[in-house]
Amino acid sequence: MNIAVLSDIHGNHIALEECLDYLKDKDIDFYCFLGDYTGEFPGIEKTMKILYNLRKKKQCYFLRGNKENYQLDELGKAYPEWDDYPSTIGLLRYANQHLTKEDVEFFNSLPISMTVENEGFPDIVICHGSPRKVNENFAIHQQSLNEVVAETNADYIICGHTHSKMETLCGTTHIWNPGSVGVSIDSPYQYRFMILHGYDGAWTPEFIALEADIEYLLFELHKSGLFEVAPYWTRFTELLITDKNGEFTHGSMLSRAMEICYKENGECEWPKIPEECYAKVFEELLNFT
Ligand SMILES: [Fe+2]
Repeated sequence: MNIAVLSDIHGNHIALEECLDYLKDKDIDFYCFLGDYTGEFPGIEKTMKILYNLRKKKQCYFLRGNKENYQLDELGKAYPEWDDYPSTIGLLRYANQHLTKEDVEFFNSLPISMTVENEGFPDIVICHGSPRKVNENFAIHQQSLNEVVAETNADYIICGHTHSKMETLCGTTHIWNPGSVGVSIDSPYQYRFMILHGYDGAWTPEFIALEADIEYLLFELHKSGLFEVAPYWTRFTELLITDKNGEFTHGSMLSRAMEICYKENGECEWPKIPEECYAKVFEELLNFT
């Protein structure tokens, strides 16, 4: 029994294609996708098409990530008062423009967590952030890790969301994260996913990292217009995939920009983060590397 687990594609259809191509002859019984289908890369239509085609041929389980929640909450629609904040809101608007009504309905139908049952093997709980919250990074704090493990009561929990490969044990529960297909923060930047091999009543993880076609990714990124849509956010993406990153994440860049915004203005309300604040973060990042 082999289960492929892929998370956090973030519109990177180039990475997704490579991963699925690798898995083609690996005797995969079914595929689990842990959410975040849109994000930093422009290949939204292509990503959705690949996923819809795959589910016609193979058994697939899909979860909803926080990126899907943003679309369901319609954050990418209207709000002209947000026009001055492209680096915060640009990609949500871009996704909104590139998703169909059917895509959004599909997202709406997805759970944030489910239990995958296979006869003769222990149950596996899959989730995006945690089984209880779509954007919870539960494994970094011992208390939330203990809570989630106790509440979930499973021997195996597989999560995504952090974009970083993880394997840890809490009591007798294995917690694994395959990393991100499209926007991995693990260095070197590669396309990351996993296969769960079921043998003798247990699961063994195989973490896979494929070399990324950086030139092709950069070409697509520049061609897409995303540097205009979300100027600094996309510059961060460029640094990330070229590994000139100094270990940052987009989330940490957002936090830093909000910190600067608060310091300079005495207040900072998402998504109203001036571009100048991102410019300062970008400068800091370049000086760091
Ligand atoms: Fe993500």
